[in-house]
Amino acid sequence: MAASSSSRSAATSAITAALLVVASLCVHGAAAQLCEDYYDDTCPDAYDITRQVLIDAHQSDTRIFASLIRLHFHDCFVQGCDGSLLLDSVPGMPSEKTSPPNNGSARGFPVVDAVKAALEDACPGIVSCADILALAAEISVELSGGPSWSVLFGRLDGKTSDFNGSLNLPAPTDNLTVLRSKFNDLELNDVDLVALSGGHTFGRVQCQLVTDRLYNFSNTNMPDPTLDPAYRDFLSQRCPRNGDPTALNDLDPTTPDTFDKNYYTNIEVNRGFLNSDQELKSAAEAQGTTAPIVDQFASSQDDFFRSFAQSMINMGNLSPVTDPSLGEVRTNCKKVN
Ligand code: HEM
Repeated sequence: MAASSSSRSAATSAITAALLVVASLCVHGAAAQLCEDYYDDTCPDAYDITRQVLIDAHQSDTRIFASLIRLHFHDCFVQGCDGSLLLDSVPGMPSEKTSPPNNGSARGFPVVDAVKAALEDACPGIVSCADILALAAEISVELSGGPSWSVLFGRLDGKTSDFNGSLNLPAPTDNLTVLRSKFNDLELNDVDLVALSGGHTFGRVQCQLVTDRLYNFSNTNMPDPTLDPAYRDFLSQRCPRNGDPTALNDLDPTTPDTFDKNYYTNIEVNRGFLNSDQELKSAAEAQGTTAPIVDQFASSQDDFFRSFAQSMINMGNLSPVTDPSLGEVRTNCKKVN
């Protein structure tokens, strides 16, 4: 018995090792999967080049790291991570960029273009715009004090932008039922939803996205009862009733530019900025679903970082284009070749 169980476990180990070797091999072509070493031979300095462009951009724009990770999210959630967000409008195909969730809100496009230009100089026609977004997101998190992870590569750029699809992006007014179903539709679970929402540990948000919660929650002419009163006073001063709707606030007032677990500690004390943030802890449906995950991340930054890295990989795997007959490596991220 002992011998047979040990030979079985030896066989299992051999199979596992073989699978790992297969998993780390980069296969190009229609049946390809994303992989870590995709650019190792063709553009070995892609990481360093991208990192340097981001560091330079950050000198004059402390918000840029947050803006870049959001671009990857808005790209991946609309017809997969295919660079569709980056295309400019052309006759008959309005760009995702111009849709309400992105227009006047999504930013960082010139920095993506600068990364693209630097990579085209070093290795022309090799690194896709969709992969640039995934890489820029990882570097941005890392440079802000968050976790690092091995980004998977090999996405090709799609040839269309889906304006209507971007209308279905998760919205700040969505309740938990809607948020969970928008994530579940993409096979992202509650841990992914809570971990990825932790992206709101840095970056900025416009006043117009909180005015309902301050003054007229659910058309009651009253504030959102789940909003901490001291935080409500603070926000009311920054975002008065008839003030500038585009004025900016920190998503995480405790550490505005640092990637840490404070997003969750804020939510624990009813200081989530968006309705969609506070829902994760305070909705009736959150009890027994997302609230315990918020609690866990509020008490363990390690747990948050581990889950966040995995969920970013999960999000980055959304419907990548790998078939060369369906995609390309754009020369200019704003237009198809
Ligand atoms: C769960 C559903 C989500 C909703 C409803 C949502 C909504 C929003 C909204 C309304 C803003 C502010 C936009 C503005 O004021 O112009 C924002 C900003 C931001 N979001 Fe989300 N978001 C969600 C998920 C995510 C995810 C998954 C990430 C990344 C992993 C992310 C990262 C960010 C960042 C970093 C900012 C600040 C960007 C900047 O300063 O330029 N969000 N989000």
